[in-house]
Amino acid sequence: MKELLKLNRFFLKYKWTLVLGSILLILANFFLIWIPIFIRMTMDEVERIAEQMPEPHESVLAALLSSDTGWFIAQNTGFLVGAVFLYGILLFATRQTLIVTSRKIEFDLRNEIFDHLQRLPKSYYDSTRSGDTYTRATEDIVRVREYFGPAFMYTINTLSRSAIIITIMLMVNAKLTFWALLPLPFLAIMAYWVSRYINRRSNEIQQQYAILAGKVQEVYSSIRVIKAFNRELNEQDQFDRENQQYRQKKLRLDLVEALFHPMLLLLIGCSIILVVWQGGLMVMDGAVTVGNIAEFIIYVTYLTWPVASLGYTLNLLQRSAASNSRIQKLLREPIAANKAQITQPADDNGKKLTLRDDSSDGMDNRPGYTFRGEIVYENVSFTYPGAEYPAIQDISLRVKKGDRIGIVGKTGAGKTTLIQLLPRIYDPQKGRILMDGTDIRELPVHELRSRIGFVPQDNFLFSDTIRENITFGKENASDQEIRKAAEQAEVLENILEFGKKFDTILGERGITLSGGQKQRTSIARALIRKPSILILDDSLSAVDTKTEDSIIQHLDTDHENVTMFIICHRLSSLKHANKIFVLDEGRIVEEGSHDELMELDGHFTNMYRKQLIEEELENI
Ligand SMILES: Nc1ncnc2c1ncn2[C@@H]1O[C@H](COP(=O)(O)OP(=O)(O)OP(=O)(O)O)[C@@H](O)[C@H]1O
Ligand SMILES: [Mg+2]
Repeated sequence: MKELLKLNRFFLKYKWTLVLGSILLILANFFLIWIPIFIRMTMDEVERIAEQMPEPHESVLAALLSSDTGWFIAQNTGFLVGAVFLYGILLFATRQTLIVTSRKIEFDLRNEIFDHLQRLPKSYYDSTRSGDTYTRATEDIVRVREYFGPAFMYTINTLSRSAIIITIMLMVNAKLTFWALLPLPFLAIMAYWVSRYINRRSNEIQQQYAILAGKVQEVYSSIRVIKAFNRELNEQDQFDRENQQYRQKKLRLDLVEALFHPMLLLLIGCSIILVVWQGGLMVMDGAVTVGNIAEFIIYVTYLTWPVASLGYTLNLLQRSAASNSRIQKLLREPIAANKAQITQPADDNGKKLTLRDDSSDGMDNRPGYTFRGEIVYENVSFTYPGAEYPAIQDISLRVKKGDRIGIVGKTGAGKTTLIQLLPRIYDPQKGRILMDGTDIRELPVHELRSRIGFVPQDNFLFSDTIRENITFGKENASDQEIRKAAEQAEVLENILEFGKKFDTILGERGITLSGGQKQRTSIARALIRKPSILILDDSLSAVDTKTEDSIIQHLDTDHENVTMFIICHRLSSLKHANKIFVLDEGRIVEEGSHDELMELDGHFTNMYRKQLIEEELENI
């Protein structure tokens, strides 16, 4: 609960709207109370006239119409209608201020969390399930909003309405007030228990639903494997079991919900019976009027919801507090080392400025600075969080501008790890990496990354058009630039064969690219940035040798000054590399040009021979 106080800064930000909303709500309740008062006055007046009627044959209606009382009652009715009308308008205005404010706060909080999520280092994502992060940014925010919206509104409502009603009731008759209010504490307790039960069960149901939804997603994304392995029936069985559980849980909840409403009515009924019974006795004693009884019955119904919402609100608060402490924990996670990585704050309208970089030349444009492109690793070691052994150890290397660097080694040797340190996806625990003599940790991350074209091993593409995927590397790129990048990545021809060309949608909503097409589209995305450093992490594994050679040739001629790191398994592709580093178990075991390494007759030569044999076998 204490953590909820952390949210009070939002209360401060919107304090005037919240004050206005509260005043409107109190006013609304004020007008609501007029309704029973006018009813009582009218009823008492009618009763008085009925008693005073001179001739028993004359109808009450006729007597009313013929006296001043008729006018009085007509007036009262007018006030009554007016009160109802004002109450309605004020209630509308209240919701428009209070609930709308809570939506605004939800918006602010969601932006804050999204911003924070983007700043978190990759190590956070390595150790956190993506589902948890997703829940923080969706479900938990919705619950925290309830603290600002419904919980706040119901509290003000319950307090103001009960205060006004109980005061008026006490002014009429204290004893009758006691009888009328007697069942209400039970109502509050019952509402608290029931809403607690509903919350718990709803959580279980939600979790079960997540399992079910996850299952569906898994099945659909692996439908080819399932069909190929004839696993349809097994999957069906598993799904049935989960679905069965979902149904049982849901039915149990429905039962409690179905019981709650009649119980509520029963308690209200008790209250009304007590009022009529005790009130009836008092009318006979002349302590109260019939109109008072009618008035009290209405008061009791007015109090039902505020009292029930007391229990409900308490639950809301507990839930909001739990969600909020999870959110605060997330917000306390330290962000990635360099703040410059995402520098854009929200503008006045709360709109975030884009994070993508569209100044591909980055530091080169700074007066007095020319990027020489020398990269030095000095005794760099890195261990993944939670891992026992370092993924790379004691790596030292030196690379000049425009060098073509090959990195080879068995799978798991540490190639990807080595190269991920350059754009600072991770920072090394030992040693340092220098760019033109400056430790890259001292460079603004945003600028550092803007000069690197990175084609990651998993070459992830968005479920969007090919154009959007390529221009992800450089916003506002011209059509010509997009074409050029696609051409250099040898994927232009493929794209032009699709009906909608660059506007073809990929992924779940569109077509699926082949492995090689995906790789080449990712390369185009990196090339359009006109990077000073290009990293290809196993990015040519799914293309045929001829295309691979042609891409490398393109890169060689068109990007002469670009420093390139090429991780690849096909060693023959590295014939023209200036230098090749051979990694094994996280260490550099050999380095040199293709020919030099062949002469060494070590790891590289072994790998080369193995590949030759494999290729020959394939050709048989
Ligand atoms: N996120 C991670 N958390 C923990 N360990 C990891 C992580 N990523 C990689 N590793 C481990 O680090 C070592 C080096 O992995 P890396 O991905 O750098 O190998 P690689 O040379 O790129 O292999 P491949 O050729 O298969 O891509 C491996 O033992 C791997 O299991
Ligand atoms: Mg790898």
